[in-house]
Amino acid sequence: MKIFDFSASLEPLTAFVKNALAIAEPEAGDRDAAASSAAFFNSLTADMHAHWLPGVDDGAANTEQGLEMVGGLCDLGFSKLIATPHIMADRYPNRPDELQEIFEEFQWAVRGAGLEVSLHLAAEYMLDEGFEEHLESDALLTLDGTHLLVEMPLMHPFPRLHEVLFQLKTRGIQPILAHPERYLYYRSDFSGLLALKEKGCLFQLDLLALTGQYGTVVKKQANKLLRRGAYEWAGTDVHHPRQVERLKQHTWTIQQAWLNPGL
Ligand SMILES: [Fe+2]
Repeated sequence: MKIFDFSASLEPLTAFVKNALAIAEPEAGDRDAAASSAAFFNSLTADMHAHWLPGVDDGAANTEQGLEMVGGLCDLGFSKLIATPHIMADRYPNRPDELQEIFEEFQWAVRGAGLEVSLHLAAEYMLDEGFEEHLESDALLTLDGTHLLVEMPLMHPFPRLHEVLFQLKTRGIQPILAHPERYLYYRSDFSGLLALKEKGCLFQLDLLALTGQYGTVVKKQANKLLRRGAYEWAGTDVHHPRQVERLKQHTWTIQQAWLNPGL
């Protein structure tokens, strides 16, 4: 797929290294690894968790960075990208109508850059003191009408977790818990983590965890959950172009049926 050309903005040395890599004859093993990675991302179809919508959270800082991330995700093999900006009471009190406006403007920039990819807007909701108000508002940014991407604080559990999961259930909304491998308090409580599935949570693997982005402990936890078949969904959760690059450098050999194409 043709992507936006950013080579003009790269440092000369970086450009030299990139060109050198591009013209190097790939080894047979490299070709196998590349084919395996491409097949993996093609099988996912959609990236259902990412922060490329510019200027709204700790993701893309501006339109140029957002375009670079979208171009890189297309390169990886995704044909559908869902923006999931944070909605957090204390740090990112984003409103759905404002996000929609920014999303529509950014879509024009993506088209202008010649990128052909299906773009959608959802959100990643923090389970915090503001969440129940969002739930009452009937203006939730779901992934597809029924699935809602939620996250919890990394350092301490959300005290009203079980009440909120019950409320979601009674409204016919299925929560997808983002990056379950990263919550510190479940490292020593694996059965407690898995018990969330019985409460109605689906699990989303943060693909960067497998590259070692968050350290070896998180990587081990992700592999443990993978071996248990605990993940139904997978997303990149990229916040910066260099994380897209990290995904490109990794060799992907996961064999699993994901729900992502059903989005
Ligand atoms: Fe995220």
